[in-house]
Amino acid sequence: MSAQYIAAIDQGTTSSRCIVFDGDGRIVSVGQREHRQIFPQPGWVEHDASEIWENVQTVITEALDNGSLSRDQIAAVGITNQRETTVVWDRETGEPVHNAIVWQDTRTDSLIQELAGVVGQERFRERCGLPLATYFSGPKLRWLLNEVPGLQERAERGEVLFGTMETWIIWKLTGRHVTDVTNASRTMLMNLHSLDWDSDILAAMGIPGVILPEITSSAEVYGEATGFLAGVPVASALGDQHAALFGQTCFSPGDVKGTYGTGTFLVLNTGTEPVMSSNGLLTTLGYKIGDQPAVYALEGSIAVTGSLVQWIRDNLGIISSAAEIETLARTVDDNGGCYIVPAFSGLFAPHWRSDARGIMTGLTGYVTKAHIARAVLEASAWQTREVVDAMRQDSGADMSDLRVDGGMTADNLLMQILADVLDVDVVRPMVAETTCLGAAYAAGLAVGYWPDLESLRAKWHKAAEWSPQMPDEVRDREYRNWRKAVNRSLGWLE
Ligand code: G3P
Repeated sequence: MSAQYIAAIDQGTTSSRCIVFDGDGRIVSVGQREHRQIFPQPGWVEHDASEIWENVQTVITEALDNGSLSRDQIAAVGITNQRETTVVWDRETGEPVHNAIVWQDTRTDSLIQELAGVVGQERFRERCGLPLATYFSGPKLRWLLNEVPGLQERAERGEVLFGTMETWIIWKLTGRHVTDVTNASRTMLMNLHSLDWDSDILAAMGIPGVILPEITSSAEVYGEATGFLAGVPVASALGDQHAALFGQTCFSPGDVKGTYGTGTFLVLNTGTEPVMSSNGLLTTLGYKIGDQPAVYALEGSIAVTGSLVQWIRDNLGIISSAAEIETLARTVDDNGGCYIVPAFSGLFAPHWRSDARGIMTGLTGYVTKAHIARAVLEASAWQTREVVDAMRQDSGADMSDLRVDGGMTADNLLMQILADVLDVDVVRPMVAETTCLGAAYAAGLAVGYWPDLESLRAKWHKAAEWSPQMPDEVRDREYRNWRKAVNRSLGWLE
C-alpha cells in the first residue's frame, strides 16, 4: 500500500499528541494523552520523561487506530515539542537519571546570578541570542550536573546523554542522538552564527561536550523508526513555536505568528541573518530545511497566558471550564479597574525578571468575578502588546496583521481584545493545529511528499479575522494602567 499521509508528534507541556495529515494538510486523525505535572517545591516543575515516552507511543497508536491506518501508509513522521525542558539519561539503560526539568521551572535562579556575575544577564547574548534566564536548558543541565550525585563524573566519561524532548523521542525511536537547530537555539549552548555548540559557553558552564547531541537541520531524515513504527522515516524536528511559524507559512521576513497555549509565543521571521534584540526579545532560529540556509527569527516568549485561565478555574474555582471565561467576561463591558499580571514564573519577554511575582491590582468593592475574568483575558493581550512593541523597535518592521493559533484562539472575545490592544488585524487560519502542521510540513518536504515552500503556502486559508475597534484614548489609558501594574509585580523576591 502506498504511503499517503504524514504523522506529526507534538510533545507539549501538558500533553503529547499525534496528528495524521493528508496531502492537502487536512487532519485525518488524532491521538492525545496528558502527563503528570510534578511540583516538588514552589517554582519547580518536573515531568517524568519515561511517562512521556509511553504516552508518545500510545498517541501514535491511537492516531493510527482512529484513522484505521497502518504504519506503511505513513510516508514520514515529524516531531515538534515543548522547548528547553531538559532530560539526562543513561546511554546504556535508556533510563532518565532524574525527572525532566520543565521550561517554566525557576530553580536555577541563583545559578543564573552566579553566571551573570559582574558582566550581567547579557553575558552570552552575542553568541547565543539569549539573556541569562532560568527558562533555558543549559543552566538546567548545570543544575542536574551539580545536584545529581556523581552525574558530573558520569557525564565526563560519556555515560549519560543530554537532550530536550525531541532528542529524547528521536533517540527512543531511532537510536540516534540528534537535535535540530531550533531546539538547540534554546539551550544557550549553541552559537547562533556557526550553528554548532559554543565551546566558550560550554567551558563557562562546565558542560562536557560529549553528552550533547549532534545538531542537524529541522527537515531531514534522521533515521528510520524501529519497533511499532518500524521503517517509517523520522524526518523533522522543530521546537513547537518554530513549527507553528512554519505551519502558519510565515516564510517571508516580516511575517509573524502568535501561538496562544499554556504561554504565548510570538515569532517574527527576520530572514537569513540573525537580528540582535535591544528590547528584550530572543534571537532564535526560525527553521532550517535540509541544506538550505537557516532562517532566523525574533521571539517574544510570555510564560503565562492560557495557564492563567487554568489557574482561575482550578485554584480559584471562578469558572468550571476554560471555555466559560469568555461567557463570564462578556457579562461586563470592561475590567472594572482590575489588572492581573500573571508573573508565576517571573516575567519573560520583554522584562526577563525572575524576581517578579503575580499580582492582581486596582481592586475595589465594585470588582466582580466577571471583571476578573475580563482582566485574565486582557493580561494575555497586554503581554502581547509589550512584545509587539519590542518587535517593532528591534526589526523596524511594521506589522500588517498577526497570524494566531493555539487553544486560546477559540475565545472570540480574546481575539477582539487582542486586535483592539495591538491596533492591528488578528487572523486565524482554517487549520489551527499549526504546531503539528509545521512539523508535518517539514517532514513532508524532507521525504519529497511536498515539493517546496510555495506548495505549502498555497494551503494556508483564513478562517476568521478581527479588526481594531477600541478608541485610541482608551487604548493609551489602559496601556498606562497595565504598565503600572507590571511595575508593581517586580522585585518580590530578594
Ligand atoms: O518554550 C516553551 C514552549 O515551547 C512550550 O510550549 O505549547 O508546550 O506550552 P507549550
